[in-house]
Amino acid sequence: MTRQTRPTVPRHVAIIMDGNGRWATARHLPRVAGHSRGVDAVRAVIEQAGRRGVEYLTLFAFSSENWKRPQDEVSTLMRLFVNALQKEVGRLGENGVRMRVVGELAAFDSQLQSLIRDAERQTMHNSRLQLTICASYGGRWDIVQSVRSLIAAAADPRELARALTERQLAEHLGLAFAPDPDLLIRTGGEQRISNFLLWQCAYSELYFTHTLWPDFDAAAFDAALAWFATRERRFGQTSAQVSRSAAEQLRA
Ligand code: FPP
Repeated sequence: MTRQTRPTVPRHVAIIMDGNGRWATARHLPRVAGHSRGVDAVRAVIEQAGRRGVEYLTLFAFSSENWKRPQDEVSTLMRLFVNALQKEVGRLGENGVRMRVVGELAAFDSQLQSLIRDAERQTMHNSRLQLTICASYGGRWDIVQSVRSLIAAAADPRELARALTERQLAEHLGLAFAPDPDLLIRTGGEQRISNFLLWQCAYSELYFTHTLWPDFDAAAFDAALAWFATRERRFGQTSAQVSRSAAEQLRA
């Protein structure tokens, strides 16, 4: 695989959508109103990512730890997911979006699980934008489930323990179908990864913005892409090595 050192558009953008609660509280609204407006921002960003030629968009919608939130907030989020799946899947299809949900899906009720399966099936032939919603997802969970499935499938677990490679482990992660994210965006002002794509973000460019998720619109997405376009991606090499191999690629 050829890695571009100064790609203008990231192939894969991952987003930690933070700040819904604070957006609502600042307006004296219940926190769930922020999640509801968050769905509008999700729609806007999916459309903009498609327009800009991003191939993979991965959104952190609900973490393994979010189950610990107050029961009414969890129920509202589940209701929003159900509504969004019922209402938006047709529109995703029209925009050439393939949707997948990655996470511990068995934790969801059976209606939501079956809506997820239907949405994945209905959009599976689309290829303009690969949208992944991470739900009941944690990066540590993902690594552990990958190792478990490798062990379960191994004819000789001792041999697996001796010879296990990074590539094998990556092939069993929930996002094995996607390249690693080039750009990770986190809204809401915090500067942490919060157990998102721990394995896959090893070399991602990290973009933190104070904009709260419900305010994150097409222009804000473009600002993140513009910042990304200024980054030099070195993947552990020196700047001189990177410039040399870019020049060689241009000559080839
Ligand atoms: C973090 O904000 C956001 C969430 C835990 C939920 C994200 C969900 C959505 C944007 C809506 C549904 C998404 C889809 C894909 C239909 P927070 O509540 O932690 O905000 P705070 O830090 O201000 O409290």
